[in-house]
Amino acid sequence: MDMGCEILLSPSSVRSGGAAFHVDGVDFAYDGAHPVFRSLALTARPGEFVALLGPSGCGKTTLLNLLSGFLPPNSGRITIDGETVTPEMPSLGYAFQSPQLFPWLDVLDNVRFGLRMAGRLPDADRRDKAMAALALVGLEAAAGKFPHQLSGGMQQRVALARALVLEPRLLLMDEPFAALDAITRATLNEELLRLCGRLGQTVLFITHDVEEAVFLADRVVLLGIAPAGIHSELAIDLPRPRRLRETRRLERFTTLTDTLLERISAIVAAA
Ligand SMILES: Nc1ncnc2c1ncn2[C@@H]1O[C@H](COP(=O)(O)OP(=O)(O)O)[C@@H](O)[C@H]1O
Ligand SMILES: [Mg+2]
Repeated sequence: MDMGCEILLSPSSVRSGGAAFHVDGVDFAYDGAHPVFRSLALTARPGEFVALLGPSGCGKTTLLNLLSGFLPPNSGRITIDGETVTPEMPSLGYAFQSPQLFPWLDVLDNVRFGLRMAGRLPDADRRDKAMAALALVGLEAAAGKFPHQLSGGMQQRVALARALVLEPRLLLMDEPFAALDAITRATLNEELLRLCGRLGQTVLFITHDVEEAVFLADRVVLLGIAPAGIHSELAIDLPRPRRLRETRRLERFTTLTDTLLERISAIVAAA
């Protein structure tokens, strides 16, 4: 039995599974501002990894905030597994560009914090569950450290563990690795895919990096300049499991990234 199975079978294991989401006929404008979306439609099937790509200001973060229920649409409907979204939905997990850890809590308590808020488990079980989540991201040994003692990459791993411990069925990630150096980012991209393969959650991953989008995703959704909404989609038919060095060498990888780069150039040129 490999380590993954052991973790999955223990009582404190972290599970997930994937949720479907549907964005249907959504209009959205910030107060008094130009519309960001008009009749936006987007769906994902359970377990799908969707990368959302587009030039700065096109509405990526806005779409994520709509999907999380933090922003209500002006019209239309957003559902997760058929239910209208609310920010408290237990099926949602978040990771942002800045890890947003509590500096006064150690790593274990940062991960445990969400479980405490959700009031889901007795204290001892919360500890076990938080340790299992830290094991998933390779940070068991750092449980007693404080955020300032960790590198940026490690902090982002803690943030990922904090999201995963809640066993989200939809993980919403807004440029989570954008502030990291290229090597750390490559490692975290591979780790994220390994975790997704194991946990099976649906992911909406925002990035403005074409190669990152192609490496990670099953499907890339390209947004045009607001309020154009979705410009186009591209299925990423690269084999899994993916390893950065091998995958990047594939001719198909180059074709897919070139296709997206051309489309982005066209979007920017037309703006
Ligand atoms: N809180 C806000 N109030 C008003 N306008 C906003 C707010 N947040 C973003 N916008 C505007 O909405 C548009 C989309 O922004 P955003 O979703 O942040 O884009 P992206 O994440 O793709 O860079 C931009 O024109 C931006 O200026
Ligand atoms: Mg943004």
